[in-house]
Amino acid sequence: MPRVSAAFFVTGGLLLLGGMILGEYMGAHENFTLSPLHAHINLLGWVTLALYGTFYTLTKDTYSPRLAWINFVLSSVGVLAMIPVLALLLTQPDGPAKYGPLAGAAGGIALLGLLVFLVSAFRELVRRRT
Ligand code: HEM
Repeated sequence: MPRVSAAFFVTGGLLLLGGMILGEYMGAHENFTLSPLHAHINLLGWVTLALYGTFYTLTKDTYSPRLAWINFVLSSVGVLAMIPVLALLLTQPDGPAKYGPLAGAAGGIALLGLLVFLVSAFRELVRRRT
């Protein structure tokens, strides 16, 4: 497995640990205010990062390590930045008005990560096959 795939899986796995602990906490306290944060950590953190990591293992002979690492940094920083911002947006009075733009910026970083992934995927689609 390329190191970048392992990095995706370690980061995604740690996010899943955090997301599951948050889920346990919400259930134990019967307080579901942070449900959307839990969903974003698990889906954008664990599921999405694990799929990116899987792609780079499947293409380990042909992928561009440079693109893969840029994808890793942008996607990881995007989801990590989203955690405190979404927590504030969901819990503070006037949260959406105050923190909406920051949430958009954090999401924008994750979106840039996806664009880099799409370049990697497109590169794989059009590469010469023998
Ligand atoms: C230890 C594991 C987990 C626990 C204890 C847990 C717990 C919970 C709880 C208590 C809720 C709120 C339910 C409600 O609003 O009535 C929830 C919602 C949700 N969970 Fe989990 N969960 C776990 C793992 C996961 C995983 C692995 C995923 C996805 C990969 C996931 C995705 C979601 C989604 C999409 C929602 C709905 C969020 C929303 O309505 O805004 N959960 N979970």
